[in-house]
Amino acid sequence: MKKNEKIIITGGLGFIFSYVTEYYVAQGYDVVVIDNQTEGSHPEIIDGSFHYYNLDVAEPSVMKIIEEYNPDYIIHAAAISDVDYSIRNPYQTLQKNIMGNLNIFEAARHLTNLKKIVYVSTDEVYGECEHLKREDEIIFPKNPYSCSKAVGSLFRIAFESTFSELKDKTAETRFCNVFGPRQDSRKILPAIKEGLEKGKSLPLHSEGKGYREYIYVKNIPEAVDLILHNGNRTYNLTLNEGFTVSELINKVEKVSGKKIMTHPTDRPGMDLKYQMDNSRIMELGWKPLYSFEQGLTEYLGEL
Ligand SMILES: NC(=O)c1ccc[n+]([C@@H]2O[C@H](COP(=O)([O-])OP(=O)(O)OC[C@H]3O[C@@H](n4cnc5c(N)ncnc54)[C@H](O)[C@@H]3O)[C@@H](O)[C@H]2O)c1
Repeated sequence: MKKNEKIIITGGLGFIFSYVTEYYVAQGYDVVVIDNQTEGSHPEIIDGSFHYYNLDVAEPSVMKIIEEYNPDYIIHAAAISDVDYSIRNPYQTLQKNIMGNLNIFEAARHLTNLKKIVYVSTDEVYGECEHLKREDEIIFPKNPYSCSKAVGSLFRIAFESTFSELKDKTAETRFCNVFGPRQDSRKILPAIKEGLEKGKSLPLHSEGKGYREYIYVKNIPEAVDLILHNGNRTYNLTLNEGFTVSELINKVEKVSGKKIMTHPTDRPGMDLKYQMDNSRIMELGWKPLYSFEQGLTEYLGEL
């Protein structure tokens, strides 16, 4: 057990990073979560096993807290993560996510103990993916959410290249679509699940033709930890298990034996396909715990 290492996790009460918070607590780290309990957060995990600051990472005061704490590691995941919200509220999304990114990198470069900062990004930064995108390909975000995430990717490069204090101490993850328990019901699989449980009709973008790769949330903590300790660049995180939404619905109907109702809806600026090359993370030695099917079966098992 690494009792003396300190790790700050921003967004550590959210869907994905609540699992990462619990993982590092279980590993014996001194964990600090910074999270302002907005949409998607799970304050019920606060149980005294980690320090918690109810703070907005877009506020400059967050830098003082981080500098005082002087952690060994930072995982920066706090962000407004809802694409539809970002289309309705571009100013707020860009302001919060970009200022959050800036404050965290600015704080990081002043830390004397820092061993690594991991910035959490997304496959959406690539824009339309006509082939499996590699990490060194151009990014072309097409909605306010993915634009705000891409700005963080650029900050990472700029800060590491400019400030020698951060040399070889930054890394980035680009996840495909993550699903599992605790996910907010505005996202596709929880919406499908809720549709099944409550007989609610599912809003369908682009006639269900949107193709996404999916990964079960319980694969994420180990993958992030692998990058935290062994990575120093950008890593796509996917098992290349991709489907259109219509295919996904068919799969869920098969597993659950129930029919899902849908109705059409619009999402401007929507990319039809995200798909990524995963050779880099595989070369790092990633061994995922769950396939898509295993994750889906466990997730729907609660039905
Ligand atoms: N869910 C996915 O499929 C997916 C895919 C790729 C990347 N990501 C990225 O992973 C991260 C987590 O995603 P998620 O789906 O778990 O999101 P989520 O919305 O469930 O959680 C986000 C958490 O961040 C907190 N937060 C948001 N803005 C904040 C701010 N300004 N200050 C402090 N805390 C703030 C929220 O309170 C919440 O607890 C995000 O950075 C997202 O861009 C998610």
